[in-house]
Amino acid sequence: MDKYRRANQNLWNEKTAIHAKSDFYDVEAFKAGKSRLNHIELEELGDVNGKSLLHLQCHFGLDSMGWARLGARVTGVDFSDKSIALARELNTELGLDCEFVLSDIMELPDKLSGQFDIVFTSYGVLVWLPEIKRWGEVVGHFLKPGGTFYIVEYHPSAMVFDMESKKPELRATYPYFHSTEPLLFHAGGSYAEPDATFEQAEQFEWSHSMGDIMNALIDQGLHIEFLHEYAYCDWQMFPFLEKRGDYYHLPEGLPKVPLMFSLKATKHE
Ligand SMILES: C[S@@+](CC[C@H](N)C(=O)[O-])C[C@H]1O[C@@H](n2cnc3c(N)ncnc32)[C@H](O)[C@@H]1O
Repeated sequence: MDKYRRANQNLWNEKTAIHAKSDFYDVEAFKAGKSRLNHIELEELGDVNGKSLLHLQCHFGLDSMGWARLGARVTGVDFSDKSIALARELNTELGLDCEFVLSDIMELPDKLSGQFDIVFTSYGVLVWLPEIKRWGEVVGHFLKPGGTFYIVEYHPSAMVFDMESKKPELRATYPYFHSTEPLLFHAGGSYAEPDATFEQAEQFEWSHSMGDIMNALIDQGLHIEFLHEYAYCDWQMFPFLEKRGDYYHLPEGLPKVPLMFSLKATKHE
């Protein structure tokens, strides 16, 4: 693992303890039976009962366990040892049968065997990966012929805008296209706990264009069933987004741009 991913791993280890106590994740409500899965993935992925499901970048496993409660046989993967330890603890406490694997996604074929009916990943995953082509290979490797890949994620077009300015404007600040060198950000705040501070002061992210994401899957022989784009988001991506119902929307007066996308693909038999 390179120094950038090592730094990000330290950060995600720190974030795990903070997120586990946050209202955003509300672990107590989850333990009491509340699901954190959004209606988007529930409706678009459909019935998972009896299916094997590989959840890439599962954090501390609440969504993995959410799918398990719906009858899926789930394997969750993350490179944060603190996240995986907490996921295993919750899984045991709740009497579920998920398996949690500690691994960098990029190295997963060396750590895990088998193929799955569904490969699933969601909300804030791709920017942490240095190479989208390799990610596509990992997805293709673990998907059974005829299996389904599903992602719901923040839209690459939205990631170009300054996320800190409180002024209600969309200011293009970051590159849309990929470069090998990561973007450096000063770690502070988190979607789940905006005032959080971290000892790991730097975080590294990589841009991936929509074309690169789709081609990484197409190159593996996946057939894209749909690509949906959403003008709203499940977290306060920009300080001026307005919460309506379960989602955050752009205020009147700003152009509607996509904030999230979802994509479903099938691997040829
Ligand atoms: C924003 S979180 C995903 C959140 C998840 N959808 C949820 O709601 O709990 C991103 C996750 O990606 C993991 N991650 C980042 N880079 C990774 C890598 N190279 N391999 C495996 N996991 C990685 C982090 O540890 C973190 O748990």
